[in-house]
Amino acid sequence: MAAQPVTVLITGANRGLGLEMVKQMVEGKCLVKKLFACCRDPNGPKAEALQALAKKHPNVHIIRLDAADLGSIKQCSQQVGAQVGTGGLNLLINNAGYLDKSTLQNTTTEGMQTTLNTNLMGPMYMTQEFLPHLRAAVKASKIPGMSTRKAAVVSITSFLGSMQLVKDSYSFFPAISYRISKAGLNMLTVCAAEELKKDEILFSLLHPGWVRTDMGGEEGEIDAPESVTGMLSVMESLTEKQNAAFLDYKGKTLPW
Ligand SMILES: NC(=O)c1ccc[n+]([C@@H]2O[C@H](COP(=O)([O-])OP(=O)(O)OC[C@H]3O[C@@H](n4cnc5c(N)ncnc54)[C@H](OP(=O)(O)O)[C@@H]3O)[C@@H](O)[C@H]2O)c1
Repeated sequence: MAAQPVTVLITGANRGLGLEMVKQMVEGKCLVKKLFACCRDPNGPKAEALQALAKKHPNVHIIRLDAADLGSIKQCSQQVGAQVGTGGLNLLINNAGYLDKSTLQNTTTEGMQTTLNTNLMGPMYMTQEFLPHLRAAVKASKIPGMSTRKAAVVSITSFLGSMQLVKDSYSFFPAISYRISKAGLNMLTVCAAEELKKDEILFSLLHPGWVRTDMGGEEGEIDAPESVTGMLSVMESLTEKQNAAFLDYKGKTLPW
């Protein structure tokens, strides 16, 4: 993200990969005009690190958002709209996620609902409600083609949502509701890319690697800074050729 400063929104920005994205975007070489760092409880103990970052960087705006709640998403969209005006929102990153590790035999209605609401319905509502701001960004932009500097929705998915990779990974990590939610997110993204390509809004899916966060656990293969450095570099390189792509943090295409 060079040249023109962009406006960005990240969900689940108070810890893990979301917090690291905020950090690298405002402290690195990305030119960020406004960064809307969204989290469920901005004044709670789990948002202290994010609050500290916002204190240091006035372009970071913390907004309350429960990514699984349509009412909260609508409120957040109104607040963002009031701040970006006709300049719109260039990049929406659906990062908030919930992991339920159940198998088919012990999964519960509650576990399945929370997972689907957070990982699938959330990104769907976010896309619907932020569409006017993304369209405004396209209108305000002078950049040809598609890019994350113009208007894009990047959703953080997982290789666990790949149907082709189930045989190799299910026995050591079942997480059936999580897999279903990420497979649904992948389909949602491909459909959105098809429906909105005429609007020049780019849609892409990124798998962050197996990362040492609360979700990934201590056994993860890489740390959050490495994953996020990779993902930001991939985001920066996206063009219409990667519309509806399913990539990992190194830019490698993953099988559906
Ligand atoms: N870590 C990995 O190895 C890995 C691998 C593949 C994919 N991913 C994906 O990467 C993304 C980030 O994961 P992570 O490793 O950073 O996980 P994490 O450390 O567990 O953080 C999850 C984040 O999502 C937020 N969140 C959960 N439900 C939410 C809701 N309803 N509304 C708003 N925020 C909500 C959490 O906020 P609270 O603090 O309020 O709970 C937290 O900020 C997820 O989409 C995940 O599926 C991670």
